[in-house]
Amino acid sequence: MLIDTHCHLDFKDFDLDRDAALERAKVAGIGRIINIGSSIEGSRRSVALAQKYDMVYASVGIHPHEAKSLTASFLAELKSLATSPKVVAIGEVGLDYYRNLSPKNEQIATFEAFIALAGELSLPLVIHARECGNDVIDMLKKIRQASTIHGVMHCFSGNAEFLKKCLDLGLYISFTCNLTFKNAKALRQTAKAVPIERLLLETDAPYLAPEGMRGKRNEPAYMVTLLDEWSKILGL
Ligand code: NI
Repeated sequence: MLIDTHCHLDFKDFDLDRDAALERAKVAGIGRIINIGSSIEGSRRSVALAQKYDMVYASVGIHPHEAKSLTASFLAELKSLATSPKVVAIGEVGLDYYRNLSPKNEQIATFEAFIALAGELSLPLVIHARECGNDVIDMLKKIRQASTIHGVMHCFSGNAEFLKKCLDLGLYISFTCNLTFKNAKALRQTAKAVPIERLLLETDAPYLAPEGMRGKRNEPAYMVTLLDEWSKILGL
């Protein structure tokens, strides 16, 4: 069974054809979808989708762009949402200095709060790291001295050195359809170093449609394109 471990079916992009998109996913062989919360409202919607659809599971969290919106009462609400039966992870959470839509210090404080929540609830983290150097790695390393961490580095797009740091931390590695892009030769080369038992698949739909469909809306059914790319890379 294939699992799309990261998508955003709760976004408006799917309002007109959510049921049909799930049907197409099933036909394509996708048996489970993890819908990722990326804001307070998104986390609520994510849990609601998991309640509505058998094949959908949920995560709750706040994208680093939204980090400044986290208040104590929202954190309490997310904690209670995270105890819903089909919530399987905390995320997406992390750091993103690419556009710094939330100030750096607030991103760090929010990420810390979610790392603590994941530890408390024994849930894995879905980690978003962009243009943040070693900050995510350093924060996770510090925590790791006191307790174990479980999680996935989502939408991996780093180099071999960053990959090694993630693997050393015990993280799973997940590539989106960015791996299928014509200009992603270096990334495909880096990807070869991921042990297959540490590999996850995801679409991050509606974002990052595969090569040949770039600029269009992505959806879980297109994950088969990513699977094809992996079979080429691994020679399977
Ligand atoms: Ni995402």
